[in-house]
Amino acid sequence: MDVTLSVNGETHKLDIEPRVTLLDALRDRLGLTGSKKGCDHGQCGACTVLVNGRRVNSCLSLAVMHEDDEITTIEGIGMPDDLARLQQDFVECDGYQCGYCTPGQIVSATAAIEEAKLGWPSYVSPSLADMGELTDEEIAERMSGNLCRCSAYPGIRQAIARAAE
Ligand code: FES
Repeated sequence: MDVTLSVNGETHKLDIEPRVTLLDALRDRLGLTGSKKGCDHGQCGACTVLVNGRRVNSCLSLAVMHEDDEITTIEGIGMPDDLARLQQDFVECDGYQCGYCTPGQIVSATAAIEEAKLGWPSYVSPSLADMGELTDEEIAERMSGNLCRCSAYPGIRQAIARAAE
């Protein structure tokens, strides 16, 4: 089946089986291996990418569903020679240990910060605009879809709080 994927601003025409997930298409067909396969069941968030700016577990989504979508992976956020502010904050705050979950954490946090700035409600607070800042509790709730088995959560939350300032 033919599908055209727009990833990090580049267009890719693929002939792909309908059963192939977006995660497998990104990694195996496009060589974008920053998105990781942790659980492959939508539970860990290691595979998080942005689809039209919204967070999606790419292991749960079929590649053929994303014709005409704008997909952003960690490679589209920043590369080692040109890190984004949030990536630099993860480094400076020790927001990782083994690093396997880090791409998904950073992709997810990129959207989480935007969602909070837009005033999208979370379970912790009805509106960030009412709180004035992104609290530790608020960040934890907004990032609850991304697990870190090394439990580097304090550094992850500190990095996100810095980037959101
Ligand atoms: Fe997709 Fe875990 S690999 S949520």
